[in-house]
Amino acid sequence: MTSLQPSAQPRLAFIGAGRLGTALARACAARGEAVVAVASRSQAAAEQLAAQLTVKLPACRALSPAQAVQAADWVFLTVSDDAIASLAESLPWRPGQLALHCSGATELSALAAAARAGAQTAGFHPLQIFSDPEQAEYLLAGSTVAIELGAADAALQQRLHGLAQVLGMQPLQLPPGSRAAYHAAANFSASFLLSLLEEAAQLWAQVGLPESAALPALLPLARGTLAAAQARGLAGALSGPIARGDLGVVAAHLQALDALGGSHGTFYRELAQRQLHLAALGARLDEDRLQALQALIASPT
Ligand SMILES: NC(=O)c1ccc[n+]([C@@H]2O[C@H](COP(=O)([O-])OP(=O)(O)OC[C@H]3O[C@@H](n4cnc5c(N)ncnc54)[C@H](OP(=O)(O)O)[C@@H]3O)[C@@H](O)[C@H]2O)c1
Repeated sequence: MTSLQPSAQPRLAFIGAGRLGTALARACAARGEAVVAVASRSQAAAEQLAAQLTVKLPACRALSPAQAVQAADWVFLTVSDDAIASLAESLPWRPGQLALHCSGATELSALAAAARAGAQTAGFHPLQIFSDPEQAEYLLAGSTVAIELGAADAALQQRLHGLAQVLGMQPLQLPPGSRAAYHAAANFSASFLLSLLEEAAQLWAQVGLPESAALPALLPLARGTLAAAQARGLAGALSGPIARGDLGVVAAHLQALDALGGSHGTFYRELAQRQLHLAALGARLDEDRLQALQALIASPT
């Protein structure tokens, strides 16, 4: 149980003034949450973040990590994943506190030192990327945050969901033991999309199309596809030769990519196999056409 009264506003601290810590601390401050302390590895980084927050919260101070823990009720360890466990080990936790990390993949056991001292532990992972510091704070609203609690505590769960809602975020309760697979899945929706676009740009370069034109030309296509998925779901948004059952086009793709060599043909076949599943769900193709596509994709050219 937290030591706070259910109605009391927790005093928040952020340790790790990087991309995520800055965005989350700024968003909390902007929405009236009591951010009382920030800390980081370098005092200069902590002071820089504190200076941004004191516009809204004059009481917010740049402290050492240990002092920040002493000053707060809820402590967000917004440091790189590899640093979470060793940092947690070094801090003066007390019973009734809440120690949180914002990593997707790192297990809550990284906060074991806080739990041993009687603190609660939780994960608060925003499903968003924070590479642009100017935009980062505004990306939180409308995003989902995956929440996991170290021990069942309905009141605390409600309060974390409340914080998510204050930030305009959709809370998602993570089942224990699911973090690594959950985060690998998130990767498909984030940085692996970039790998798909890189494959496309490489193919353009190989056939003599200017690589510099690839992103400006392909990003609107990618955005259109994502907008269709938002409107009609994955199967409903599917377009292209597999969705239409155009065997001739798929055969031409395979022939061209195999001729280019490398892993282009193999990569295409793997994705095409997966897409057959969506095409089947979309129910636009009859069974014969699906089987013909399956055979074509499986065959070497
Ligand atoms: N960036 C994203 O898109 C994103 C999205 C979702 C979740 N996350 C999660 O958020 C966490 C932080 O990621 P990030 O991208 O914000 O990393 P980051 O930009 O590299 O920032 C990490 C910060 O942690 C500080 N730090 C590192 N070791 C420390 C230590 N031992 N004690 C105190 N401070 C320490 C660094 O401080 P100094 O600057 O003072 O050296 C740095 O500012 C990670 O768990 C990550 O998985 C990130």
